[in-house]
Amino acid sequence: MLSEIEALQKRVSVRSFDKRPVDAGVTGLILETVEEINAAAALHFQLVDTSGSKKPAVRLTPAMFSGEVTLCVLLVGPEGELGGELVGYYSEKLLLRAVALGLGTCWVAGTFDRKSVSPALKEGEKLWGVVPLGYASEKTPLLQRTIRSRIRAKDRRIEEFVESDYPFASLPAWIRAGAEAVKAGPSAVNQQPVNIVYKGGLLTMRLWKEKRNEMMFNDLGIAKYQFQVGAEAAGVRGFWNFGQDGEFIPE
Ligand SMILES: Cc1cc2nc3c(=O)[nH]c(=O)nc-3n(C[C@H](O)[C@H](O)[C@H](O)COP(=O)(O)O)c2cc1C
Repeated sequence: MLSEIEALQKRVSVRSFDKRPVDAGVTGLILETVEEINAAAALHFQLVDTSGSKKPAVRLTPAMFSGEVTLCVLLVGPEGELGGELVGYYSEKLLLRAVALGLGTCWVAGTFDRKSVSPALKEGEKLWGVVPLGYASEKTPLLQRTIRSRIRAKDRRIEEFVESDYPFASLPAWIRAGAEAVKAGPSAVNQQPVNIVYKGGLLTMRLWKEKRNEMMFNDLGIAKYQFQVGAEAAGVRGFWNFGQDGEFIPE
């Protein structure tokens, strides 16, 4: 199994899956992760396993995806900005765990058929997105290769991710490593709407775009998780306060 930082470096959105069903042992480990996450935060992630039937676990939009999955996690959590951020943070933990176990994944908020899944929703909860899980097909078809390279072509430069009084190159190595991890992470339509702010000895994170949509709060949570993994691999463990301008507290 890969370490978390190795999984972070390897992760890409997989949009073509082969027919092999996910190994039962691996499915068990994903279920454990989902249960751990739900116990740690007020989340209601749900694992769907249709390997015993002919049905896919979720119907993905064919213009974006090829192949079918029989395993999928429904990202259910509280409505609202904080709910979105929590879902984002813990979804990234799940994604990295899946990659470490050899699976291909993608965060899908829009391009799936909502009628093909039946999430259990408690009062005040919503389905933020789905995470299909399967084995990436050996060769990535041209369409999916094109989708990724087109979207990633708009990547921001690493320096643009950090607001600081100091130039990027002179920042502590663990902050640069955290920023690299944020850049490598997924974000909705690759908008990369999150900035790391390092001023007066305080490290915080914020959405820098004035125009917001709810998915950006998923992106904020994802970026916080990615940063934490990157910084830890460079020697600094810490945890985040949630919310816009939430602070990173090194241990
Ligand atoms: C909140 C969120 C929603 C997303 N929704 C979709 C989606 O509906 N369809 C899709 O194909 N990819 C979706 N993605 C994947 C992004 O397009 C992808 O992460 C981004 O382009 C960066 O590429 P990478 O993940 O391969 O590094 C979503 C990602 C995030 C974080």
